[in-house]
Amino acid sequence: MTKPDVCVVGLGYIGLPTAAIFAHKGKQVHGVDVSPRTVAAVNSGKVPFVEPDLGGFVERAVSNGTLTASTEPVPASTYIIAVPTPFHDDHSADLSYIEAATRAVSRHLTGGELLILESTSPPGATQHMADVVAQERPDLAHAGIKFAHCPERVLPGRVMVELVENDRIVGGITPEAAEEARELYRVFCEGEILLTDATTAEMAKLVENSFRDVNIAFANELSIISDKLGIDVWELIELANHHPRVNILQPGPGVGGHCIAVDPWFIVAAAPDEARLIRTAREVNDSKPRYLMERIRAASEGTNEPTVAMLGLAFKPNIDDLRESPALQIVHDYAEAHPQSRVLAVEPHVEELPAKLAGLSNVRLTPTDEAIDAADVVVVLVDHDAFKAIPAHRVAEKQVVDSKGLWR
Ligand SMILES: NC(=O)c1ccc[n+]([C@@H]2O[C@H](COP(=O)([O-])OP(=O)(O)OC[C@H]3O[C@@H](n4cnc5c(N)ncnc54)[C@H](O)[C@@H]3O)[C@@H](O)[C@H]2O)c1
Repeated sequence: MTKPDVCVVGLGYIGLPTAAIFAHKGKQVHGVDVSPRTVAAVNSGKVPFVEPDLGGFVERAVSNGTLTASTEPVPASTYIIAVPTPFHDDHSADLSYIEAATRAVSRHLTGGELLILESTSPPGATQHMADVVAQERPDLAHAGIKFAHCPERVLPGRVMVELVENDRIVGGITPEAAEEARELYRVFCEGEILLTDATTAEMAKLVENSFRDVNIAFANELSIISDKLGIDVWELIELANHHPRVNILQPGPGVGGHCIAVDPWFIVAAAPDEARLIRTAREVNDSKPRYLMERIRAASEGTNEPTVAMLGLAFKPNIDDLRESPALQIVHDYAEAHPQSRVLAVEPHVEELPAKLAGLSNVRLTPTDEAIDAADVVVVLVDHDAFKAIPAHRVAEKQVVDSKGLWR
């Protein structure tokens, strides 16, 4: 095998599109994943998850020999690490995946390579990666190995477009590392590539997601205050947003997905005494499912063995992604706490109940109309387009708990 230009470690939602686009632009790319299933899929030109347009890129790159894959890294000029960064119970980042990937790469270094961390990371993670290499390979202390962080801000579902069009931030442990990383991303990135130091780049990604989280928390807090004061939060926000410099976001059942609900904790863990607003925003958003549970309980009071239609399980509209979904959590927690209730879960984007609900005998995946007809209480958890099309008169006789303001 010719020595690849780029070795991408971690072939998930971020790593595989990145590997494929470099290959598309003529770089020789080798992808690495600990999952033999993922490696086998990639080597046969397939994508083991859903992402529009990615399949064509992978298939072409594999068939013309510019993309190969294996479970172990190989010698290369540049390594890009795109492995998961979950958090521990205390909300600090779990760096063990980055450490394992860095150790695996270290064995193949000879000097002069560029190592880029793409995983969303707490401040200091890129330096930590450099420290791991220094520990593993003291023989290369003066061999000019460079380290940079290049966070990713693509939107799932539009990754192949946004990889090319989005601006990017590149932070180097040294300015030379940042420059070299910029040259590399220039190959496919048509947006601006902005250089900084590694810690600022790490924080920039976390701050972007915290900005969203804090602003959603403000809307969620307004919805709870409005319920208490007996006013319509949707009207309130619409009116306030007529101010030329006000743009309040929309409230909902909480915050889900694996970015906005996770990344702010890395800032809190790094500066626990200082990140007061960021921590509170996380707590406000995380408490919203419990608040809605109370509202559902109150709405079904007086009905023996109530039937509750729960509209939506996904973490945001018009997708099938249930990761960290507050809607899924609400359906699960309510059904578990109320075994006498019949819970009709409605999710047009999935074909079977997710594992988290499958064990609950009082939950059934139900088509929208059937669920509404049978329900005493109708709960809106996700504003899928399919639900927006339901006219208000369909629920006029029902108790309604509407976390998305569909029928106001
Ligand atoms: N998915 C997104 O929309 C998104 C957006 C921005 C940033 N990120 C960040 O990018 C990083 C990767 O996320 P993702 O969504 O691609 O995750 P993912 O779970 O889809 O993919 C990660 C891959 O890494 C592999 N892996 C784990 N340990 C490994 C190791 N030691 N060596 C080789 N492979 C290993 C896993 O098998 C998996 O295939 C995370 O830090 C995430 O926060 C993700």
